[in-house]
Amino acid sequence: MKYLVTGGAGFIGSNFLVKYVSERPNDHFFCIDKLSYASNLESLSPVADLPNYQFARLNLVDFDATTQLVKEYAPDVIIHFAAESHVDRSISGPAEFIQSNIVGTFNLLEAAKQTGISKFHHVSTDEVYGSLGEEGLFVETTPYDPSSPYSASKAASDHLVRAYNRTYKLPVTITNCSNNYGPRQFPEKLIPLMILNCLEGKPLPIYGQGLNTRDWLYVDDHNSAIMAVVDRGREGETYNIGGNAEQKNIDVVKTICRLMGEETGKGDLSHLMTYVADRPGHDWRYAIDASKLRDELGWEPTETFDTGIRKTIRWYLENDAWVADVKSGDYQKWLDTNYAGRN
Ligand code: DAU
Repeated sequence: MKYLVTGGAGFIGSNFLVKYVSERPNDHFFCIDKLSYASNLESLSPVADLPNYQFARLNLVDFDATTQLVKEYAPDVIIHFAAESHVDRSISGPAEFIQSNIVGTFNLLEAAKQTGISKFHHVSTDEVYGSLGEEGLFVETTPYDPSSPYSASKAASDHLVRAYNRTYKLPVTITNCSNNYGPRQFPEKLIPLMILNCLEGKPLPIYGQGLNTRDWLYVDDHNSAIMAVVDRGREGETYNIGGNAEQKNIDVVKTICRLMGEETGKGDLSHLMTYVADRPGHDWRYAIDASKLRDELGWEPTETFDTGIRKTIRWYLENDAWVADVKSGDYQKWLDTNYAGRN
């Protein structure tokens, strides 16, 4: 089987490749990535020299290059991870999200339509459903109601993927997942940002009162769900993926403060917690009903939040070269842009 994996040098894609390139030596994996600020080839070093792995730098916004690569490689399966994914960046600069997430997906669909692929799998987010109140869960039929330019761009890409299935019979599947965490995540997202700020003794910026809730999904659980859908999911279907691990942001940060204190011997670090101005349009709560995936494909998450967060913290502590590398780019500029005016 030949897999074309877009966005494979990003957080979720690189964890996917590190797992499946080694586990499936008889399959071939071609990773493409535009290598933006949040991608890191270093994340792929465990598989970079394996014979069933190949990499090319490619921006899906380039229609001709995308079409040519898809034609030449002629994949059996496309797994589409590539996306701009940070909500705060989409608020300060939405244009890139329209290009990458909508135009990029359109170009890839067009290229896929011209080849005989057996599956186009689109990786998406629960943010397309908007915000929940205190009760209820997102199901696959929850109406779309995106709040941010990021989630609106992902909603548009989901609609395009479904339209290519209905109109052109492209064999697609879609997954919508909750908040991911784990090794190799760029430290602009809540969990790695808090881990690294704890390490440096820097303030831990909590938006609003920290009472917003997210459902945390360990990245390896997300990837095993994606592979189950790619292998056995029904054509044209959508599957929600969640971690069964709802937490208020404030509780996530308190746990990180306690565990980072334990792991580094510095004692509880909760004195670093700082309340800052809220995110505009901040969704209150996300929570997933993943029973369709469980009932049809037998998938369930294997990590609890307690086990997953400890593994994640240890990974960041043990991989200081990776951390130093991601922080050497325009990372500091982003921190200044996003947090300077919030206090
Ligand atoms: O639900 C899936 C989505 O989860 C993905 O589609 C997105 O790509 C991913 O970024 C994530 O979106 P969130 O906006 O929920 O993730 P983020 O890590 O940015 O924020 C998690 C929560 O923490 C959110 O309520 C905002 C809050 N937050 C975040 C940051 C960066 C803070 O309180 N302080 C911060 O500095």
